[in-house]
Amino acid sequence: MKYFIETYGCQMNKYDSELVAGILEGAGYCPSLRPEDADVILVNTCSVRQHAEQRVLQRLNSFKALKLERPDLKIGVLGCMAQRLGEKILVEKPFIDFVIGPDSYRNILQVLNGVHSEQRESSPKIFLNEYESKETYADVCPVRVRGVNAWVAVMRGCNNYCTYCIVPYVRGRERSRSAQNVIEEIRRLVDEGFVEVTLLGQNVNSYWDGEHDFADLLAMVAKVEGIERVRFATSHPKDLSEKLVRVIAENEKICNHIHLPVQSGSTRILQLMNRHYSREDFLAKVEMIRKYLNPVGLTTDIIVGFPGEEEDDFRQTVELVREVEFDSAFVFKYSPRPGTRAAQFDDMVSAAEKTRRLEEINTLQKEITKSKNRQLIGQRGVILVEGRSKKSETDVMGRLETNKIVVIPNTILPKGKLVEVTIVGADGVTLFGRVNHQN
Ligand code: SAH
Ligand code: SF4
Ligand code: F3S
Repeated sequence: MKYFIETYGCQMNKYDSELVAGILEGAGYCPSLRPEDADVILVNTCSVRQHAEQRVLQRLNSFKALKLERPDLKIGVLGCMAQRLGEKILVEKPFIDFVIGPDSYRNILQVLNGVHSEQRESSPKIFLNEYESKETYADVCPVRVRGVNAWVAVMRGCNNYCTYCIVPYVRGRERSRSAQNVIEEIRRLVDEGFVEVTLLGQNVNSYWDGEHDFADLLAMVAKVEGIERVRFATSHPKDLSEKLVRVIAENEKICNHIHLPVQSGSTRILQLMNRHYSREDFLAKVEMIRKYLNPVGLTTDIIVGFPGEEEDDFRQTVELVREVEFDSAFVFKYSPRPGTRAAQFDDMVSAAEKTRRLEEINTLQKEITKSKNRQLIGQRGVILVEGRSKKSETDVMGRLETNKIVVIPNTILPKGKLVEVTIVGADGVTLFGRVNHQN
């Protein structure tokens, strides 16, 4: 039997697809590179914005044709949309065979056996998360594509209930894996040839396994022999501690890159978002980070057009972007998610206005990224080689510890090696480098 998984959404979802692959391959399923060749098609979905859901729904429709050609083909919807919509998916799209939420993947073999059996009508087709699920898949071995970086979820769920966000509803309550268990997985990764790990959680800064906090965990991971670099995402500004930043500063292997979503530069809007920090709190965290870490890559997420966002609030976000000078920013138009608190707020911002605000920040951020990258010309840095550059077969690409991409034209370097380079050029977001000759 062959399976094909297509994944939408965040890195956590990509990791989850690797877990599902682990469960399936443990039972003898083989991966298929194309949906056309698969006996089972799985779509791991995202609900974070309406646009993400629409993309999935369109894609599902395109699989319908395959199902008509091959009635034995099984199609399953996994992930956040599966949890949010549940049975509705089966009602609206009868060619879908089953729906499984993010904490229920252990049931996938039972579901597949059911849909293939004689009693297929009576076997379960929907498995949603249990109330207050404690699932961490600690004993499941994810199947990863061999490479340089591996993702490791160290916690699941979210307790923060930012008023715009669907994640706490679809991913359940926050829970952490034990540090010991995380370290065991990372040792296995070294054996498989990985040299970089990215620890994942919706808010890694609230990691707690009863004994270790996230700073402790990072320090432990950095000590695992064979690991050259440790990254992590995402940090909620309210929980980013000085202890954590110190641990990053003290450990060469922990990368000086912090993804710190600010969401808005207006304290009033931050309150409406239930973010538990003010504009000033955020700026103080940035100052603290820059006191300890130099250089540091600082990236962020911003939502424009949150309900009630006035021109003055938006200007405060623009000013904050100017002041902080992030290395890059993901800017999103607010998208109301059914069931969240903000979806019931008044004063929705018009679509045209959201677009204008999005474009203004993107234009500003592009300028900042460009000018910050230009300042790097002439400086030295170490990249971890990831492979060929996307644009050219003869170029190599790697990342600085700040997460900036450096392209080295016309060269051959082994994947997974740390190489010292000098930055010789900058073109928008991409840096160009030359390999320094080692003595
Ligand atoms: N747990 C992470 C990321 C969650 S989702 C965190 O707390 O930062 C990733 C990003 O999507 C968020 O940072 C936010 O900027 C954006 N996002 C979440 N819900 C959204 C919504 N309803 N509309 C627009 N953007 C949203
Ligand atoms: Fe969503 Fe907020 Fe949790 Fe991030 S911290 S996943 S934005 S509720
Ligand atoms: Fe990730 Fe999207 Fe779910 S961002 S947690 S896959 S809603």
